[in-house]
Amino acid sequence: MYEDLQGKVAVVTGASSGLGKAIAVRFGQEKMNVIVNYLNNPDEAEEVVTAIKHAGGDAAAVQGDVSKEADVAGLIEAAHDRFGTLDVMMNNAGIQKEIESHTMSLADYEKVISVNLSGTFLGSTKAIAYMLEHGIKGCVINMSSVHEVIPWPHFVHYASSKGGIKMLTQTLALEYAAKGIRVNNIGPGAINTPINAEKFADEEAKQEVLSMIPMKEIGEPEQVASIAAFLASEQAGYVTGTTLFVDGGMKLYPSFRAGKG
Ligand code: BGC
Repeated sequence: MYEDLQGKVAVVTGASSGLGKAIAVRFGQEKMNVIVNYLNNPDEAEEVVTAIKHAGGDAAAVQGDVSKEADVAGLIEAAHDRFGTLDVMMNNAGIQKEIESHTMSLADYEKVISVNLSGTFLGSTKAIAYMLEHGIKGCVINMSSVHEVIPWPHFVHYASSKGGIKMLTQTLALEYAAKGIRVNNIGPGAINTPINAEKFADEEAKQEVLSMIPMKEIGEPEQVASIAAFLASEQAGYVTGTTLFVDGGMKLYPSFRAGKG
């Protein structure tokens, strides 16, 4: 637990399930006040709100599509109206869909880019504008992936969005460092979340993924959430413009593990 997080205000996008849910609940355990953004499942979002309140924090569920400017502005307003400020912007919402690149339509491509990359742009820049206006030395945390560096066939839209997030984060970190606003990425590998549920339910597919993870384990959402809490806290007060990977070593060229090459 990080004492300095107590009473801080966060927006977590895509917080009704998966990594966003785990992060929102962890922020609740840190006794933070959390805007739990969701797209289309109010019941799941309310469950997260309840979990946060039980953990000792406070929370409110707010609907919004992160690819829409007015909706993202609404999330920041909700943090201000409900909890009086905004200290931590966690841009987590993201989507992915397997499609071979030569059959991918522009609409398929743009859909992923608009949620993952443009949504992160909107969340980051609007949060920073709010922090500058109110003199807050806050932080922005963006959900990237190991695929900000690892190419991913059939997911060119997704990998492009995450590569884009890497540069978006570094650029904003540089631009606002002198204002005391930190901007960082989390880069998860294969984690037990709904986005991966179908893949991991298939034993063969799961084994294939495990063979790509040096630690031989699928990660848990709470292991990603603990990185979000760290990056939000003063313990990471000198950390900006970086990606903290949570991937069991997935990016370490596992095919070289036997010392061949
Ligand atoms: C994706 C997962 C995938 C992992 C490793 C993540 O960004 O969301 O579906 O298992 O990368 O490839």
